Amino acid sequence: MNDINVGQFFDALTDDYTAVIERCFPRYREMLWGLLDYLPHGRTFDSVLELGCGTGNLSVLFREAMPDATIHLVDISGESLEVCQSRFRSPHRHTFQQCDFRDLSFADGSFDLVVSSIAIHHLNSVEKQALFGNVLKWLADDGVFCFADQCAGETDDLYTRHIENWKKLAMSAGSSTAEWEMWMQHMADHDHHDTLGVQMGWLKDVGFSIVDCPWRYLLWSVIQARK
Ligand SMILES: C[S@@+](CC[C@H](N)C(=O)[O-])C[C@H]1O[C@@H](n2cnc3c(N)ncnc32)[C@H](O)[C@@H]1O
Repeated sequence: MNDINVGQFFDALTDDYTAVIERCFPRYREMLWGLLDYLPHGRTFDSVLELGCGTGNLSVLFREAMPDATIHLVDISGESLEVCQSRFRSPHRHTFQQCDFRDLSFADGSFDLVVSSIAIHHLNSVEKQALFGNVLKWLADDGVFCFADQCAGETDDLYTRHIENWKKLAMSAGSSTAEWEMWMQHMADHDHHDTLGVQMGWLKDVGFSIVDCPWRYLLWSVIQARK
């Protein structure tokens, strides 16, 4: 058991993050594209919240897609947030906040869109449900919540198969045994995987009217929920 917290883990990984994540999950970029591509077409989002921006890989893509949006970026890792901030010298339509998701508070209806990529699985089941309820409140009436994340399999054997196939994928993309073991330790210490079905149910339970999964591969799913 590792005694560092999740923010310290990502602080330490910051400089190598993108290279490591692309080796560990070669379809990472496709997943980010899936998250953005399935946002309602023809719609512009003026006020956006990104949860767990890390070093800004989704944030940069989102900025290209929606150049006029104002984006509020949140992460618990100060080092990652600093790198993210350095990628947005201009134009200035970004605000940055180092904060735990569990401590966030915004006025009702503050955002048109809330996005997140592989960050929410660091919360446990109860905390995820509380966050989903908060996101619904923070969204405007026609707001959209779209996030990519790791989910458990619906059964133990499917979950095990996902992890086995993930390992094959990571190794074939150049991950070392030490790197794979580092992720497995990270998973044991900091990850809380709930199934896709359960999470879609929670989103409905808190009051989202439409919930879908437009993209999925092994553990990774893109979930979209509309208020
Ligand atoms: C796997 S990284 C993903 C970064 C980026 N979104 C991406 O797609 O590459 C997870 C991020 O979530 C942040 N994070 C994890 N738990 C958090 C929490 N409780 N509150 C705020 N940020 C958190 C971490 O610091 C890290 O930057």
